[in-house]
Amino acid sequence: MATGPTREPIPVIPTPPCPPGSHAAVEMAVEMVLVHNCLIRAINSIYYYAQHVTKAEDIRDFLHFCAVSVDLIHHHHEGEESFIFPPWAEATNRKDLLENVAEHREFHDGLDKLGEYARTTTPEAYNSQELFKVLDGFVPPLTSHLNSEVDRILAMENTDNAVARRILDEGKKKAMDGASRDKLVPFILGCHDATFEGGKHFFPPMPGLVKMILVWWYGSKFQATWRFCPSDLYSRPKERILGPGAA
Ligand SMILES: [Fe+2]
Repeated sequence: MATGPTREPIPVIPTPPCPPGSHAAVEMAVEMVLVHNCLIRAINSIYYYAQHVTKAEDIRDFLHFCAVSVDLIHHHHEGEESFIFPPWAEATNRKDLLENVAEHREFHDGLDKLGEYARTTTPEAYNSQELFKVLDGFVPPLTSHLNSEVDRILAMENTDNAVARRILDEGKKKAMDGASRDKLVPFILGCHDATFEGGKHFFPPMPGLVKMILVWWYGSKFQATWRFCPSDLYSRPKERILGPGAA
């Protein structure tokens, strides 16, 4: 795999088929893919913009986008480790599910290095080659994990559906608690692609009017940061703001 600026964008993950009446594990796998694809698009955006930010204000906002991405990847994994995989493994006696938690350990130190770099680097000291080195230190195991976790969730289709439903419903609710809405809501909306797979996904699962209110309420605090998202805050893919992809 090529690294640094010559690296190809990480491919997003296709969703598994989920006809009406599917097992809750399949529904969970679909939602997990949609969340993981937001993380993948954020990482791809970081790889792209790393080499194209030059003005101090752009570097500052871009590094904040990096720091927010790290916080939200951590938040996602902490929610899984607290509310989803251990209780689900316990209730179904499927210890293989805990491999998802073990895999988190393979890239968390590298992810922390990105957080540290993003929080402590001044625009004057910013160096894209240093950032690529940090990214290349953890993105391959992260990407591999984002794919394998979905397969392990799908493999739970042969376990109790009611248990999976309870874990899914409780886990989603609890995982939202404790997240900074000012960061989480615009990040998910700005890193989702509403046109993905023909636009067939209702994600995040809320009516358009609610999204408009959320964008208005939560989108303004870090408005400059969300410039580095691949989509606007209505999840519509947008032109790059810098570099060869810019309008
Ligand atoms: Fe996940």
